[in-house]
Amino acid sequence: MSDFYNQINRNALPCHVAIIMDGNGRWAKANGKPRAYGHLNGVKSVRAVTEAAAELQIKYLTLYAFSTENWNRPKEEIDALMGLLVSTIEAETATLNKNNVRLTTIGDTKRLPEPVYNKLMGCIESTSANTGMTLNLALSYSSRWEITEMVRHISEDVKTGKLTSSQIDDKIISSYLTTKNIPDPDLLIRTSGEYRISNFLLWQIAYAELYFSSVMWPDFTKEHFYEIMVDYQKRQRRFGKTGEQIETGNENL
Ligand code: FPP
Repeated sequence: MSDFYNQINRNALPCHVAIIMDGNGRWAKANGKPRAYGHLNGVKSVRAVTEAAAELQIKYLTLYAFSTENWNRPKEEIDALMGLLVSTIEAETATLNKNNVRLTTIGDTKRLPEPVYNKLMGCIESTSANTGMTLNLALSYSSRWEITEMVRHISEDVKTGKLTSSQIDDKIISSYLTTKNIPDPDLLIRTSGEYRISNFLLWQIAYAELYFSSVMWPDFTKEHFYEIMVDYQKRQRRFGKTGEQIETGNENL
């Protein structure tokens, strides 16, 4: 096994890793190919990272596979991405089950074409009893969409008396988000050398560590993932406290 792999402390892994998989289009262009070819190769990286994370027994892996804004891409590219989603689900459901991985999704999935939606629901259903890693696909997802929905639902519940406005706190807000059953990400990775969050998990990443990799997503391997785990483990997460408070456990410092 590699150097990075051997440096990983199995007892200090992030519980939830979220990834913005970026750079498929540029990778394809650099290789003189259409954008869809980049997405096709991006699936290999999805498989590699899912396998690496599951092997390390990371509990949650969220992948930004299709954003609300991606609906504005050319129809041909949207069709290619939807086709890839279907073929990947078809090809990988058995492997997910074999590896005890549960598939979930966040996003406005009702917007997906019906055959894609049905395939997705079939895989979610088939893997629902698995107790290992949760692979969470963000599809037709954006934070502003999610936050808008949350505000709408909370105000409906206040109107009907299910909730009072004074009860609203950060826990209540989290419980109205699509990620209500998932802990906040400990680590957010974005590939392709872009330093942006692009409407992804804005509420949930309040205390996440951020890692920006210059690697284009189709070139992203298990090795890159291991390297990031090692980097993450060198960081001290303070959640607003002082370094001394964290190191000694003494709140008065
Ligand atoms: C960003 O690259 C990537 C996407 C919009 C889609 C990611 C999708 C996959 C990797 C394949 C399908 C996924 C699954 C889970 C089966 P970009 O096209 O924005 O790249 P660019 O910034 O270089 O143009």
